[in-house]
Amino acid sequence: MDVMTAVLTRRSEHRLVEPSPSMEELTYLLKAASCAADHGRLRPWRWLLVSGDDRRALGEVMAECNGKSVASMVAKTHRAPLLAGLILSPDTRSRVPEWEQLAAATGMVTSLMLLLHARGFGSIWRTGEQADAAPMRRFLSVDEHERALGWLYMGTPVRDGSVARRRQPLDVGSRLQVFSAPNDVEPQLVSARR
Ligand SMILES: Cc1cc2nc3c(=O)[nH]c(=O)nc-3n(C[C@H](O)[C@H](O)[C@H](O)COP(=O)(O)O)c2cc1C
Repeated sequence: MDVMTAVLTRRSEHRLVEPSPSMEELTYLLKAASCAADHGRLRPWRWLLVSGDDRRALGEVMAECNGKSVASMVAKTHRAPLLAGLILSPDTRSRVPEWEQLAAATGMVTSLMLLLHARGFGSIWRTGEQADAAPMRRFLSVDEHERALGWLYMGTPVRDGSVARRRQPLDVGSRLQVFSAPNDVEPQLVSARR
């Protein structure tokens, strides 16, 4: 799949089933995704993978975070066969500010989602109130300087990737301006120099 097709046809997939990418394939795709633009090449992120029966433990933690029933939260973790918790792990000694490190992590996730899609897998990034709550931080062993950014759910989409599901690309005209220097800029500069 070419890049333009991947970008235009990727959608967040709410219902995902087996197969999910194998450890080997996910590692391969993540390696590629880690080539995303990243000021300082810090790769300020890490993942925790949860699958199979271990999803139950994650559901219990989610319920602890949001007060909902364990059964409903465990069911939510079963909306995909493979879940990956994303942790922003900023380099606090770097001159690159944290917001830029967050931007780099987001770029990596976007690349990974596109790569998964191009391989026939689906994904959705889910956050919600529990994403960085204390019990979730404990579950993910999130350090004080780190931040939990939610979960990437991965698997094979139940829905097909038909053209009907494509998003209509935004008419970006109103978000795109071309700078044009005012005509009186030069005289102002001239008078400033005097
Ligand atoms: C940072 C981030 C957090 C998100 N959190 C949630 C979420 O908690 N629940 C959810 O259903 N979708 C979540 N999404 C998915 C968006 O709802 C989805 O990308 C949006 O509806 C656009 O759909 P599309 O990805 O199919 O174009 C999140 C997406 C991003 C980028």
